[in-house]
Amino acid sequence: MEGEEVCGIVAYVGPRRGAELTTLLVGGLSRVEYRGYDSAGVAWTGDGSHPIMVVKCQGKIADLEEGLEGIENRLSGAAIGHTRWATHGDPNETNAHPHRSCRRHVAVVHNGIIENEDLIRRALRDRGHVLQSETDSELLAHLIGEFLNGDPLEAVRTALETVQGDFALAVIFRDYPDRVIFARRESPLCIGVGDGEYWVASDPASFMEHTRKIIDIGEDQLGVISASADPVIVDFGNVPVTAKIEEIDWDIEEAEKDGYEHFMLKEICRQPASLTDSMRGRLLPEGGVHLGGLLDHRDVLQDMQYCVLPAAGTSLFASMVGEILIEEIVGVPAVARNAAELANRQHLVFPRNTVFWAASQSGGTADTLSAIRRAQALGHRVFGLCNVVGSPVSRETDGGVHLHAGPEIGVASTKAFTSQVLLFQLICLYIRRLRGQEDLPWMGRYLEEMRRIPKLAAGVVAQSDLIRSLAERFYQGYPSFYFLGRGILYPVAMEGALKLKEISYLHAEGYPMAEMKHGPIALIDERFPTVVLVPQGDDHYEKIVANIREIKARKGIVIAVASQGDDRIAEIVDEVIYVPRVTYYLLPILYVIPLQLFAYHMAVLRGCNVDQPRNLAKSVTVS
Ligand code: F6R
Repeated sequence: MEGEEVCGIVAYVGPRRGAELTTLLVGGLSRVEYRGYDSAGVAWTGDGSHPIMVVKCQGKIADLEEGLEGIENRLSGAAIGHTRWATHGDPNETNAHPHRSCRRHVAVVHNGIIENEDLIRRALRDRGHVLQSETDSELLAHLIGEFLNGDPLEAVRTALETVQGDFALAVIFRDYPDRVIFARRESPLCIGVGDGEYWVASDPASFMEHTRKIIDIGEDQLGVISASADPVIVDFGNVPVTAKIEEIDWDIEEAEKDGYEHFMLKEICRQPASLTDSMRGRLLPEGGVHLGGLLDHRDVLQDMQYCVLPAAGTSLFASMVGEILIEEIVGVPAVARNAAELANRQHLVFPRNTVFWAASQSGGTADTLSAIRRAQALGHRVFGLCNVVGSPVSRETDGGVHLHAGPEIGVASTKAFTSQVLLFQLICLYIRRLRGQEDLPWMGRYLEEMRRIPKLAAGVVAQSDLIRSLAERFYQGYPSFYFLGRGILYPVAMEGALKLKEISYLHAEGYPMAEMKHGPIALIDERFPTVVLVPQGDDHYEKIVANIREIKARKGIVIAVASQGDDRIAEIVDEVIYVPRVTYYLLPILYVIPLQLFAYHMAVLRGCNVDQPRNLAKSVTVS
């Protein structure tokens, strides 16, 4: 399954040079800046008489433009550019792409992840290479430089034979200033075909204002573009591939959203990919878990006696799932806490060896940062679960894991939730093994389902049209909704209610199911629908059925999200959406998707601005 693309590549060969080439590269990069940015850079060969030139910077494309001021006229030859959204190493100038080989005769821009990075890094160092950055991508420049022996395409092919992982890359060579070599595996890349000029880009948006002719580069293919010949594409066995030129028939805005109507919908629907990326290289084939950001803290995790999970909003609901996972999988007491409430407490007392786990998509949430600082001031170790590398949460915590879910652009958080929930599971399994706790009999199936979770999520996402028809029934005339869940699905009910209120501006409340009879049920009538989360095989299934009957007895409308094959539920509720049956701990990932889609379609039908709902910001940096 293809990963979620986060960085942007653009490469060019053709007659343009100087300021014109600068504008073309900068313009191409700014078209993909929406994917996320923390640094950017360009490199060019000139006429081949000098080392490859590179200009890069931390920040936005506008900062790169500033960095190029005064030297625009120097750009010539084959050129590559990159906008980065860090997954490895801090977002600083050194880690920005392009990366060069030691002799500065090769420069590379790369999207993807090199899984055997440690091995390659050690081998290169042993062979005398001096590496500048913390990135896996720089290794490629060094490897390709080493293998260069008269044929640049062959050098790239041989270098990539030693690499495990994903890549889309564009490479330039000082000694071959008329061409760009490209390659891809599991990361998108395409060629823009102009008149005597060519582009290679991760996203056609980068060249669409110049040409609408495109060649899609297939999986496991590599090749060459040069101004003087047609593009050459081969597979890794060197067998030529016939290039098919197609015409792009969509516009730039559609390209940014990959054809989805909104970023939020794209982010919901791409969860199979973001979950794959979050798990990649972490869940090992034999069932072990590798989490590099926790390796140095094994002693703390071994002695851990209590966990506190401070977070806000959607991240708090993911942490409430995390609380259950830590207690049940690791056997250590845990509590998820609203970060602001925690930070504002005058007196805080936690047991010795308390570890904090701070989840934050943006890594910039002021309330979560305050809680982190408070915990650290009390002498506790704090680990982060954060999506934005280099963000305050990722810098200030003592260690942790990055979500690798890709930039989340829609204000309402979606894919970060599922990745956080998945990572809490990996963290628990990692700690369990570390503490020498035995695998339990059900764990084999659990791990097998975890590996399949992206595929299972894809099946749920595929029900978007069905959920839209459901929304068509409810978007008018129903001003309030309840969302009910038990156990691990209670936080999911809270998240479903939050999604509905923040983007469709309808009143919604999430409750633990059993709480209904303690008051909230008083509001139920035929205009107050309830969404219930019903997992079959749950110990409390009969109680859930009884709760549903109580609502029905008050003329309430019940929409159920239930397990595939649960025909009984269809007989007692008004509407039902089915999701696959999985191990209890994985339920939140599959059950939240219909709720995200329901909120999305309700908001669209109600004419709301889905990606930028009123009164909300993507990252709440004030407390
Ligand atoms: C909900 C939403 C917010 C955030 C909250 C925390 O859709 O986006 O509730 O979840 O502001 O943000 P992060 O996760 O960036 O700390």
